[in-house]
Amino acid sequence: MTDIAVVILAAGQGKRMKSARPKVLHEAAGLPLVAYPLRLARRLKASRTVVVVGHGRDEVRETISGRLGEVDVAFAVQEEQRGTGHAVMSALGALRGHKGPVLVISGDVPLLEKKTVDRLRKAYERAGSKIAFVSFFAEDPSGYGRVLRDGDGVAAIREHRDCSTGERNIDEVNAGVYLIDFAYLRRAVRNLSADNSQGELYLTDLIEDAARRGDVPVVEAPEDEVTGVNDRVDLANVEAFLNDAILVGLMRAGVTIRQPHTVCVDAGVKVGADTEIGPGVQIRGDSRIGKGCAIEAGAVIVDSQVDAGAAVRAYSVLEKARVGQGAEVGPMARLRPGTILGKGSKVGNFVELKNTVLGPGSKANHLAYLGDGIIGENVNVGAGTIFCNYDGFMKHPTVLEDGVFIGSDSQLVAPVTIGKGAYVASGSTITKNVPADALAISRSKQDNKLKVAAMLRKTLQAKKRRAAEAKKREEEG
Ligand code: UD1
Ligand code: CA
Repeated sequence: MTDIAVVILAAGQGKRMKSARPKVLHEAAGLPLVAYPLRLARRLKASRTVVVVGHGRDEVRETISGRLGEVDVAFAVQEEQRGTGHAVMSALGALRGHKGPVLVISGDVPLLEKKTVDRLRKAYERAGSKIAFVSFFAEDPSGYGRVLRDGDGVAAIREHRDCSTGERNIDEVNAGVYLIDFAYLRRAVRNLSADNSQGELYLTDLIEDAARRGDVPVVEAPEDEVTGVNDRVDLANVEAFLNDAILVGLMRAGVTIRQPHTVCVDAGVKVGADTEIGPGVQIRGDSRIGKGCAIEAGAVIVDSQVDAGAAVRAYSVLEKARVGQGAEVGPMARLRPGTILGKGSKVGNFVELKNTVLGPGSKANHLAYLGDGIIGENVNVGAGTIFCNYDGFMKHPTVLEDGVFIGSDSQLVAPVTIGKGAYVASGSTITKNVPADALAISRSKQDNKLKVAAMLRKTLQAKKRRAAEAKKREEEG
């Protein structure tokens, strides 16, 4: 097979998005729209990929080369958006030296599949033609270019605004996916004219030109696959479609998903077999879940890793965190960036961790804030423990060595280190390091004043009674 080059048109503003952000940078399933045609180009093993940028070009370029890491992509700048034909002209320089077909697609058509392009390619090669394209039957064809036929063959594509009333009844429309011989393309775009209602250079005018020279093969695709994103309703529909496909893929690979219509999983998230995902779960960004995990209802997991056999209980929120094998989190726990939970460790309800390592087998089961901590193995952090890590200017570390026991309602004022095997008594405020195996108590001694509570109760009851009587007299008098 000959080399294929891919041109992705992404210079338009996308007016109907009503957005300050370029259309192709709006996200679906955690990726900007333009990531999808780029992924397709990679799957096609394109010999080169050119993205035509214009509107918001710096942001678009930065996203593609930076965030998406597409370093081999070439960019062509279309200074003014004078139509799809003009956009392709802008890409000619970057295609110089290419031999063979060029696949032209839009940056706002994210669901196009490789198998459709393969079919297009077969039809193109079999017919030995200069151009082939994809059509679909639109439920509502308005806005699309109509496919005008001459008997069985294709005669032209006519843009909606240039169609006669009769032509507008045609429901076979142009999907905006073309395979074009480069040598032909280079010559033919020069002859495009802006003689149409929008005064633009239409790439679609090549069809009529090519049809005069020979057969133009058309491959039909399902409407769902080739609909473009023009507004935010389309964006939501596309995302729902992508999400369904992701969930179906996971379920077929052995993941149980309860009430999948309530679950969101981003493209590229990995989930191991026999993991169970509850209703309302979101797993986003660059996240990986191992085998045999339980991800319970309402959990939100962003850019995090959960190792095999771990449990993330209901309504826990994880961001840039790592949960070790067999560890348990929540319900209602919050793991902020830099949290690393060791094998078999436990973090219970209303516990927040930030930039903290909790060693294997260690536990913080209830109501705690552990920030900037280094916690060893088999440590027990009692209910209500606070790492006072911030002095208003700087953050400081708290170190709990292996086997430490922190009694409930203690504050550890950082920087501070509790030595191996040491105990901190409940209710202590610790400001100095505690040596290994020591018991630290920092609270006042208990004094039981006998019968004082009973006396106090009597006094207070009498006071309340007198107050009520005084009020009554006032109302009567
Ligand atoms: C285009 C087709 C139409 C087809 C439809 C399918 C033309 C003239 N019309 O119409 O037949 O049914 O797609 O979705 O091609 N772009 C640029 N530079 C420009 C203009 C557009 O890069 O100067 C890019 C846009 O960013 C977009 C793509 O080309 O990614 C398509 O442009 P758009 O304006 O959306 O074309 P449609 O009117 O949808
Ligand atoms: Ca469009």
